[in-house]
Order: sequence, then structure tokens, then C-alpha cells
Amino acid sequence: MNKRSLGRPTVRQMDFLRATQRYIAYGGARGGGKSWAVRCKAILLALEYSGCRILVLRRTLGELRENHIRPLCLCLEGIASFSESKRAFSFANGSQILCGYCAKEKDLQRYQGQEYDFIFIDEATQMEEYVFSALKGCLRGTNGYPKRIYLTCNPGGVGHSWVKRLFIDRKYEPGEDPDEYCFIKAKLSDNKILQEKDPSYLKALQSLPPDLKRAWLDGCWDLFKGQYFEEFSRELHVCSPFEIPPSYTRYMAFDYGLDMLACLWIADDGHGHYYVYRELHRSGLIVSTAAQLMREYSAGEQIKEIFMPPDMRSRQKDSGLSMAELFYREGIRGVCADNRRVPGWLALKELLAPVPDLSGTPSPRLRIFESCHTLISHLPALRRDDKTASDASVHPHEITHICDALRYFALSVREGAGQSKEALDPLMLARINAVKRASGGRRAIRF
Ligand SMILES: Nc1ncnc2c1ncn2[C@@H]1O[C@H](COP(=O)(O)OP(=O)(O)O)[C@@H](O)[C@H]1O
Ligand SMILES: [Mg+2]
Repeated sequence: MNKRSLGRPTVRQMDFLRATQRYIAYGGARGGGKSWAVRCKAILLALEYSGCRILVLRRTLGELRENHIRPLCLCLEGIASFSESKRAFSFANGSQILCGYCAKEKDLQRYQGQEYDFIFIDEATQMEEYVFSALKGCLRGTNGYPKRIYLTCNPGGVGHSWVKRLFIDRKYEPGEDPDEYCFIKAKLSDNKILQEKDPSYLKALQSLPPDLKRAWLDGCWDLFKGQYFEEFSRELHVCSPFEIPPSYTRYMAFDYGLDMLACLWIADDGHGHYYVYRELHRSGLIVSTAAQLMREYSAGEQIKEIFMPPDMRSRQKDSGLSMAELFYREGIRGVCADNRRVPGWLALKELLAPVPDLSGTPSPRLRIFESCHTLISHLPALRRDDKTASDASVHPHEITHICDALRYFALSVREGAGQSKEALDPLMLARINAVKRASGGRRAIRF
């Protein structure tokens, strides 16, 4: 009989090996022994469930070879045979560990339509959410074996936001079952083996700038390298919801595409303080449904201005109408905001900057009700653009919509809300004027 020792797991690795939920994330600090745990669990599953199919995924082929193929070849010599062309380890009991990578959306095609019992996404925070969504669809089979996705993660990376939402913040959307998700926090201090063999690694992490140190050494998810709004802090910028007093002026700002409607409701206290008091973030809505929802959410409220991006004025090929006109027909009378990116982000930074209030306490001009989960998770997840540091990255795309909506608002209030009305096309302006005349010149829109 071929006996081989995999080594002895740490306490946290043991938690990972024993977890039985459908989605298990193991993460936090670097060097916490995550890739080791992935290899170990994949082998144990292959041996336990004869004939099972296991996928181990990394972002790039180079990383896959270094972190998994090479160490697995060493560990499985004489136990499983390796096919270089299939990048697969085959066990005598029929089980297979397939090693894959997914750097681009196109790479996913290799896995879509396949069936796996267990999938490991090593460094899931390096991947966008569509990878996880697509792989969820590959987790199936009729052999009666459990089906699980194991993820490992470090704070930061393009996948920071979705991993944080599912496993750290545990904010679930309809259709997601919280009981299926489990998070095991790894710290470098758990990995005594690495600390003994390579103490300089710990020293290197300790010498990092404070925010990176917190992320990579302590596994803190609030800050990460390349974060655009480093100033964002839950303590300063998130507040408990309160009844908006009638004296406050209400605004809306939205970004629309069929892929996502991101709409924010913001109240102005008249003394330079703004409160984002409601959000709507939903995909797959046609204009009439989007507008209907926006109206329903605003029922009974007087909205002074609704800001939207100026590209809403471009005419649609099929209807000949602009998106703005389509919304207008459905009762959403938006004004075009200034959508210059860098000035918009800087205006938003101004609103987030803490300035002393009357009592001298630092207080930002913009606060977000804690019920606005999407904005609270996407705004701090926004990344700096690699080429233009003063701009925010447009990747990952799914976190940009709601931040864009807030940016339209920030620049519009800085420039004097509503002054961009002349940017509307004449037809809409004529219609707005007609409505204004009919309503006795009142500018506010009542829902
Ligand atoms: N339980 C263990 N037994 C032996 N070596 C381990 C164990 N856990 C981790 N290691 C070793 O520690 C180092 C760092 O672990 P790794 O899994 O690569 O960390 P991470 O993926 O979290 O960055 C590697 O050399 C790995 O082989
Ligand atoms: Mg690793």
C-alpha cells in the first residue's frame, strides 16, 4: 500500500477541511496556508468519493502550475497519474482532479456545460463575480455526492466586493440561502510552519504600509491596495436611518442600462449636509418597469431634481426616442448631470471629507443610511484606475453603477443643482416647460 503524509493541518485548516456547506470560503491573510488546504482537501475528496470530478481553478496558468500542478505532481506521484494535455490527475478509483485557470471571460467556456462535484477557486478575490456565478451552474451531477465550491481569498483584488458581500458582510439577495455560505478566517499567525521556515515573510508583511498590513496580515476587509475612496469609513459615513424632516430637499440620481438600474435618493438638510436615504439596484429592467419602480419608491415624496447621465439623451435606433424621453414618458423627468469622471469623483471626495461642524467635531457632508447596502459595499470597493490614478477603474463593472449615480449627484450639487437643464433636448425641454406651466411653475416633482 502506498502511504504518503500530507502533513498536519493547522486549527483553521482543519475547520476548512471539515466544513460541509455548499460554499466555503477560507480567507484573510496571505500565507495563511490556503493553497495548501485546497490541495489537501481536493486529494481527500478524490479518495473519499470514487469517480468524483474536482476542478481546481486559479486565475492564470502560471499561478496554477506554481501553486497546484507542481506540488500536486510531487505529492501524488505513484498515487494518481497526471495528463499534461488535460491538466488532470486521475486516481485509481476513477476520481479526477482537473486543474484550470480563468483569466478572461473566454476561459470560462472550457468549464461551462461541464459537471463537477467539487470546485476550488483559489484566490477568488482575483476573479469577477461572473466566474463564481457561472461555476455555480457547473456544480451538479446525479451521483448523490455532496456538491461544494471552496473559495480562498485575500482582501483586495477585483473580486473583493462580491466575496466580502457573501462571506464577510453576509448580505444576501433573493434566491441566496445564508445557510449555504460559511467563512473561515485564516491568519498568518495560524501558519506556524511558514513562520518557522520563513520568518522574513512575516517581517516583510509587517513592514507594509498600514492599510495593506491590515489587509494582508490581519485579513481586514475594510481597506485594500488600490482603493479609490480610501477615506470611506463606516463609522463616519454610515448612519442609522431617520425620518427625513419636511424641510429637507430631496433629490434622486440614477444610472440606467438593461444590465443595471442604480438609483439613489438623497436628502439635503439645507446646511450643506446630504443623506443618501434610499437605493434601488436591480438588473434586467426595461425602462417602463424601471420608471415604475422609481415612482413607487418615491410615492408621496417631493423630489426637486432627478439627475441622470447625459448619454441618456442619445436617440435609440429602434424607437427614435432617447432613453431620457422614454423615462420622461413614464413620469421620470430627469435632468442631465455633468458626467465628467475625475471632477465628479473629486466632488464626491469633497462631500466625504470630514470638516469640523459647529461643535468642532469632524463630520463629513455626505452620509449614507445603513439600509443602503449596495452603495455601502460598492463605494469602498471602487478601485483606482491603473493608468489614470485620479480616475476610478471601470472594473469590476458591476460595482460602478451605483457609484456613478452618486458621482452625478456630487458634481450636480457642487455646480448648483439643476443648472444643466439646458443640456436637455428641445423636445423634452418643451415638455418640461409645459408641465411646469400646468403645475403653476412649481419645479418639484410629486410622486
Ligand atoms: N499544514 C501545513 N503543513 C505543511 N506546510 C504547510 C501547511 N500549511 C501551509 N504550509 C506551507 O506554508 C506555505 C504557505 O502556505 P500557502 O498554502 O501557500 O499559503 P496561502 O495560499 O494562504 O498564501 C507553503 O509553503 C505551504 O506549503
Ligand atoms: Mg495561495
